[in-house]
Amino acid sequence: MKNLMQQQKIKNMLKDVEAALEEIVDFDDDFIREAALRNIRAGGKRLRPIFVLLTARYFGVKNAEVIKFAAIMELIHMSSLIHDDVNDHSDLRRGQTTLNAQYGNGVAVHVGDVVLIEALKKVFEVSHTKELLDILSKTAVEMSKGEIAQLASLFDVHQDLASYGYRIERKTALLIAICCQTGAILSNATKAQIDAFYRYGHHLGMAFQIKDDLMDIMPASKKIGKPIGHDLINGLINLPTILLLQRDFPEKQRVIDIIQSHFAGGQEDIDYVMSFVLQDDIIAECEAHIMHHISEAKAIVEQFDKNDTRGLLLDAANYVYERSV
Ligand code: IPE
Ligand code: IPE
Ligand code: MG
Ligand code: MG
Repeated sequence: MKNLMQQQKIKNMLKDVEAALEEIVDFDDDFIREAALRNIRAGGKRLRPIFVLLTARYFGVKNAEVIKFAAIMELIHMSSLIHDDVNDHSDLRRGQTTLNAQYGNGVAVHVGDVVLIEALKKVFEVSHTKELLDILSKTAVEMSKGEIAQLASLFDVHQDLASYGYRIERKTALLIAICCQTGAILSNATKAQIDAFYRYGHHLGMAFQIKDDLMDIMPASKKIGKPIGHDLINGLINLPTILLLQRDFPEKQRVIDIIQSHFAGGQEDIDYVMSFVLQDDIIAECEAHIMHHISEAKAIVEQFDKNDTRGLLLDAANYVYERSV
């Protein structure tokens, strides 16, 4: 069975999105245009556009405005990645040197701003403008709040599942949720349908980020194109570490001291903490959190009337669980 990304229907959908992306970033400024194009051409899964297009396809809608809007969502995502790499001091993204690593944080922040603002401006060229801009601007604010909460939580060994949920909902799940919501709005779906698609996207977004956090410590593939083990070293306490710190074990205080010292002992400290984080039953517990959200998302889709797109929505849910990049 082919996974979502290997399916010809998905590949065909994305061809139009690539063209729309290049068209939108055809900025007058040479430097900004080249920086944006380089990020686009480095690849990426195009998952946010896929969710917009799949949702619209479920309602039988496929037109130029949906494609343009799907590209807008990818650019909002891309802008958030440019800013996120500044936040996280990351020097590798989509297998390439990040803008912050190459030109410094200041330049990267401004390129990210331009990409975001130019993407938002394009919403004036699609229908439902007011409603869509309202959703997008609120989401952009919440995404920043998620990233700020994450910065405030670095090296904090006392955080709980609720604060982790707050962060990942904002930084990741909301954008995926609104890709589905707005795909339904552009298809003139009913309020109940729009809400159902939002909830489907929310659960897949939560699962997507937990999987991302897991892949940071145990990559399922060498092709991930991002640094490995980067989160913990930088003080990001993700689900596996939170679950570890909720347990009692003899070396717990030592683990806490090391994290609070910001891994002052270098690689040896990192390896020591990792050896606890990477326990099979911690990984299994993380997988259970992912599966919970995948099951919720699938249960929502299973309520939908059957048509030739419903299966793809279920494939998308499976993909989020099974993906290796
Ligand atoms: C990375 O998103 C940021 C997260 C939300 C984890 P993706 O994994 O979708 O990145 P690309 O677009 O494929 O590069
Ligand atoms: C997701 O968080 C970032 C955004 C949604 C902007 P991460 O920091 O985990 O994403 P990666 O791992 O850098 O792609
Ligand atoms: Mg990051
Ligand atoms: Mg990550």
